[in-house]
Amino acid sequence: MKTQVCIIGGGPSGLMLSQLLHLKGIDTVVLERQSREYVLSRIRAGVLEHGFAKLMREAECGERMDREGEIHEGFFVANNGVMKRMDLHKYSGGNSVVVYGQTELTRDLYDARDRMQGKVIHNAEDVQPHELTSKTPYVTYRSGDEIIRINCDYIIGADGFHGVSRKSIPKTVLREYEKLYPFGWLGVLSRTKPVSPELIYSRHDRGFALCSLRSQVLSRYYIQVPLTDTVEDWSDEAFWDELKRRLPEDVAARMVTGPSIEKSIAPLRSFVAEPMRYGNLFLAGDAAHIVPPTGARGLNSAASDIYYLYHAMLAHYQNGDDSGLDGYSAKALARVWKAQRFSWWMTTLLHTFPDSIEYDKKLQQTDLEYLFSSEAAQSSLAENYVGLPF
Ligand code: APR
Ligand code: PHB
Repeated sequence: MKTQVCIIGGGPSGLMLSQLLHLKGIDTVVLERQSREYVLSRIRAGVLEHGFAKLMREAECGERMDREGEIHEGFFVANNGVMKRMDLHKYSGGNSVVVYGQTELTRDLYDARDRMQGKVIHNAEDVQPHELTSKTPYVTYRSGDEIIRINCDYIIGADGFHGVSRKSIPKTVLREYEKLYPFGWLGVLSRTKPVSPELIYSRHDRGFALCSLRSQVLSRYYIQVPLTDTVEDWSDEAFWDELKRRLPEDVAARMVTGPSIEKSIAPLRSFVAEPMRYGNLFLAGDAAHIVPPTGARGLNSAASDIYYLYHAMLAHYQNGDDSGLDGYSAKALARVWKAQRFSWWMTTLLHTFPDSIEYDKKLQQTDLEYLFSSEAAQSSLAENYVGLPF
């Protein structure tokens, strides 16, 4: 097979880039290890920054998002029971975020790829990029007993944190920065009316809690748990009890509980790999960087990678201008690190750290008091939460 851009990974990053390039007449093939059913059964986060929502529209995939997604102009932060609304709209120059499940967004991207007869190959096994520093790179994969080779101009590594792309960059070239947090998030999805029309991020001495939603009939809640906990340790009843304990009393009192339809624990991690380009391989999204979910930045740091790559590829194919490709890694990393900083800050502000000393606790309280009382602090939060420009 031959294509211009071979994309490894059919998550939001890979599909979005494929869709955008296809609309400009650039040929792509997407190789996805899993089946479509599997990819679309993964429950992921649900907040889109306005820049990502714009990209969805540009990719001609925004119709259902605009119809079913909810525009949120603010959210609440609670500190030991005291709530303060963060006005995103007021403090970010009129911007907002869209609450729309990432699983739904991935479904929309797949539908768009199908409509345009885009080449998306599922169940591609043993995907391997080759000859990255030559002018003729290629990717191989296995389908049953057959090894298939795809010749291409460029390879995009959009295969998430556990993918093969980052691992194919030599260790002497790649530098990895990582921070692990000493806790995870236990998440529950339930067919209940959300306790609040806007998200509530709650700091509490017993640990962090988050009230989120997918729609007015589907709630998504999280609580901070020790890394040693397993899903089996948490019955639905134990989860609801603990969640309520960590929320302001009036919120807990109006919480509607019900059976969980999904329950999982995710560890919290910050991670960046540098550089994001090696020869003709370009990393994008979770393949190159991970954030803890606290600032809702996961998909949004991927958005800027895709935007930069898209424009760099256009400049290359339409005008023979390679400056975008050459500058990609530095430009993408500059924004990636800002999303890292914000996610680390939100995580540090709102969680209970098992090893924190009294001094740390005082600083955390001071940081929260400053946020609650300073318009400058609220502006900074709003600017980052709706998404820094790209
Ligand atoms: N070969 C082919 N595909 C692979 C391989 C491989 N070796 N390894 C992983 N994949 C696929 C995964 O099955 C997955 O569908 O690559 C895809 C990567 O998708 P994501 O992990 O969703 O990463 P990305 O598309 O960058 O999305 C950004 O934003 O909110 C965050 O983590 C969240 O997934 C989200 C991310
Ligand atoms: C979610 O709805 O899953 C969600 C929302 C906001 C976050 C993290 C997760 O910060």
